[in-house]
Amino acid sequence: MATVVETDVLIVGSGPAGASAALALSTYGVPNIVVTRYAHLADTPRAHITNQRTMEVLRDLGVEQEVVARATPQHLMGNTTFCTSLAGEELGRVRSWGNDPLVQAAHELASPTRMCDMPQHLMEPVLVDAAVARGTRLRFENEYLSHTQDADGVTATVRDRLRGDTYEIRAKYLIGADGGRSRVAADAGLPMSGRMGVAGSVNIVFEADLSAYTAHRPSTLYWVLAPGATVGGIGAGLVRCVRPWNEWLIVWGYDVDAGAPDLTTEYAESVVRRLIGDDDVPVTVKSSSAWTVNEMYAQTYANGRVFCAGDAVHRHPPSNGLGSNTSIQDAYNLAWKLKLVLDGTAHPRLLDSYTAERAPIGRQVVTRANRSIRETAPVFEALDGLSPQTPDQLWANIAARKDATEAAEKQRARLREAIAFKVYEFNAHGVDLNQRYPAEGSAAIVPDGTPDPGFTRDPELHHQPTTRPGARLPHAWITRGTRTLSTLDTVGRGRFTLLTGIGGENWVRAASAQDIPVATVVIGPGQEYEDPYGDWARLSEIPDAGALLVRPDGFVAFRHAFAAPDAGELLADALRRILGHA
Ligand code: FDA
Repeated sequence: MATVVETDVLIVGSGPAGASAALALSTYGVPNIVVTRYAHLADTPRAHITNQRTMEVLRDLGVEQEVVARATPQHLMGNTTFCTSLAGEELGRVRSWGNDPLVQAAHELASPTRMCDMPQHLMEPVLVDAAVARGTRLRFENEYLSHTQDADGVTATVRDRLRGDTYEIRAKYLIGADGGRSRVAADAGLPMSGRMGVAGSVNIVFEADLSAYTAHRPSTLYWVLAPGATVGGIGAGLVRCVRPWNEWLIVWGYDVDAGAPDLTTEYAESVVRRLIGDDDVPVTVKSSSAWTVNEMYAQTYANGRVFCAGDAVHRHPPSNGLGSNTSIQDAYNLAWKLKLVLDGTAHPRLLDSYTAERAPIGRQVVTRANRSIRETAPVFEALDGLSPQTPDQLWANIAARKDATEAAEKQRARLREAIAFKVYEFNAHGVDLNQRYPAEGSAAIVPDGTPDPGFTRDPELHHQPTTRPGARLPHAWITRGTRTLSTLDTVGRGRFTLLTGIGGENWVRAASAQDIPVATVVIGPGQEYEDPYGDWARLSEIPDAGALLVRPDGFVAFRHAFAAPDAGELLADALRRILGHA
């Protein structure tokens, strides 16, 4: 009889979702196996924008510095340029990805981390190397085929593509991180909304020294408005920097009803030439692939012992750079819950909070990313470039904005406005950081009876911290002796943390009396942690003697605004509820 391999968690896929699930689980000491279909990790750049929340996750998982060392830094990301080709006319720019001075300040105030550009073929090895070093067993060329589940676990059938035979892996839980065509999600019967194949796109990876056209306006993205650029795709032609300024990826649309073009080198070179606009630049095409813009999300992320994460449950275009970010954040939300259920600390119903918390985020991300594509149309409209026309007519329309006429002045204003509106795609700090899990929806959050503070400014553009249960713990720089650290550095590492201040002795005693480890952080003059700038006092929204209980993923789970003589009972009750025992 064939041997059955056993593990606690089987992860299908080594993309951002699977690799980070493996990394988090191994960091928490949970045995896990990753099976992945190919003999290699991502071999093209794919996702790249890495936002502050993801960097916080990576900081907690101990790989932030490695990512920073390999990524393109934030200051080289941010002049999103609209042009007729790289060598052609420039139509305008949007300061992006935290590089607008005001948004930059907001980024610095919001997080100890910086956004960066980390292409997926560089990110996956960092995640996977660290996961394997911490205990993940990784099987390349092993393809998930099917699964069955019963009351005690999941049995997956896997094909070893090298040997050509199949075998079974028995796990207590299965994570389907197998991407946008997820077989695990389909086999688990996860209900989906929306549709696939909304538009067609081609990715072309190439090498060319384009510094003459880019280094003076450093950016991750150069958007090209040229004939054919509104067909399919993501709103316009896109030249994306992979490595400044000689590795690139072009995204170019095709009519999805007509089918993908034949991806010959000649075809790829013709698109590259059209978007660069200078035939003398030497170009080496590395690869081309076709993909579709999707607008689909799962309503439920789990069925019994099977959980899905990443593109398996939210499928959307790259706009706003949310693909791998959301995938990594899904995995981080799920991993600590699995750990606590597997070691018997939590009741399995804690796992229900995964769908309750992440599915609304997935829906929001899919909607935002697709809306961002539609919001590119006004840039073309401002140039009268949407209606069918010959290339000469389009160039004439674009040239018309330079006329000394009232109509041209209006056109210039319309164009400026349309380009500026693209901040919702390129500088949407709130989209990145305002994730709040509703206490009403998730049993892993204990409501404190306070009203939802909502948002005082546009929640997509501006980050607004709060300590109301369900929100991510706000970042403030505090000190411990001579060391300056973030409040976020005091939480995480797979454990609960209680934050309090002077007068919160009852909370500290209560934390140490719990059945599970609860770290304590006391902030105030003469305490282990001090708040020299007063930032924490401004952000904590509780008096010194109150308390916040923060989950292993950095989200506030419980808040109490006062010193409490019955702190032990209050905390025990909160933990019972969060862990699914109540
Ligand atoms: P991902 O697709 O990364 O990983 C899935 C993993 O599962 C892979 O390791 C795969 O081999 C494995 N797998 C699948 N089926 C399996 C099976 N049956 N058995 C075993 N293993 C299996 N995003 C963006 O923001 N900007 C961009 O430019 C692009 N470009 C882009 C190009 C292409 C070609 C693709 C496919 C995707 C993009 N994306 C993108 C999307 C982005 O890459 C995506 O959001 C994240 O990779 C999602 O991460 P996941 O880990 O969920 O899936």
